[in-house]
Amino acid sequence: MATMTESRPETAVDFLPINGTDHVEFFCGNAKQSAHFYRSAFGFRLVAYCGPETGVRDRASYVLQQDKIRLLLTTALHPDHPVSDHVKMHGDGVRDIALWVDDAESAYRETTKRGARAVMEPTLFKDEFGEVRKSSIAIYGDTVHTFIERKNYSGVFLPGYRAVEGADTVSRPVGLKYIDHMVGNVGWGQMNVWVKFYEDVMGFKMFKHFDDKDISTDYSALMSKVMSNGNERIKFPINEPARGKRKSQIEEYLDFYQGPGVQHIAMATDNIIDTVTKLHEHGIDFLRVPTAYYDTLLSRVGKIDEPVDQLSKLGILVDRDDEGYMLQIFTKPVEDRPTLFYEIIQRKGSRSFGKGNFKALFEAIEREQALRGNL
Ligand code: FE2
Repeated sequence: MATMTESRPETAVDFLPINGTDHVEFFCGNAKQSAHFYRSAFGFRLVAYCGPETGVRDRASYVLQQDKIRLLLTTALHPDHPVSDHVKMHGDGVRDIALWVDDAESAYRETTKRGARAVMEPTLFKDEFGEVRKSSIAIYGDTVHTFIERKNYSGVFLPGYRAVEGADTVSRPVGLKYIDHMVGNVGWGQMNVWVKFYEDVMGFKMFKHFDDKDISTDYSALMSKVMSNGNERIKFPINEPARGKRKSQIEEYLDFYQGPGVQHIAMATDNIIDTVTKLHEHGIDFLRVPTAYYDTLLSRVGKIDEPVDQLSKLGILVDRDDEGYMLQIFTKPVEDRPTLFYEIIQRKGSRSFGKGNFKALFEAIEREQALRGNL
């Protein structure tokens, strides 16, 4: 047995095992209304709540779920509150990409000793359903990773939250399954700093199936590298602006978010045509590429299962690599500041990120930037 252990390369030891994304917490100006949007438009179900009615005096939080995706929307009840400060600076946005671990103490110790800035030391939270241990570290901007250890907990979400009983009559599910990836925008020259952070502090690797050379062109004017944890359940592309003919879409984000932050969340479906049809019906606005994109689609990606006329009608994009193909579509920003947006993705073998669509996509983004006077 000793020989086996010795023969294993050291890199095989994952010092930060992560089971998956636990939840994504947004700090919002009005969580009650945001929750309605995510329920009625994106199909999430309200499953838990905390606020004044449950004995919490300074904030209200809504837990929304759709299959494996869990969102937490939090609003402060007073101006003198860290959540209010965050909203004043950034608008509504992602505060916490919370990661599900088996040992929040070890996750904290291993990352802080490798240079992570501590936000919350390992802390135990309890209620009648058991206990949850949490710890947090800082990442780019005002964003954090909280490590959630919930193996001794049987409640609906976290201690202190009350389950919402009965059917959610506002919710209109659209078939979203899990978070495929979450993208961070960082400042000029900062991409490799954060790539190194994820390598050194979190033990992530550059995702092997993504072309890591610069993808800046006349149109895209950004650079991106994808980081992934050991079991590849967590994928974090990191973008930085690049100089191009026009103002980078990343620069526009940084201007309006007042710094680095989460740019988009990609949510996976098993049936993108059905999901996007419903999202259209629910009033979600998507980026559109010119119809000419579909004239050459099949010659570019080969045979696909989906009818091209339906993809064209809905605005769904397709890309292929040596492992298969993938379908994707991007919403417009979901708030007035041009910051956070969503991607809907369906993978059919491909593990890439739609590089073949970048040009058409970035031209569509630039048309929107021009309408906002920010190009
Ligand atoms: Fe994406």
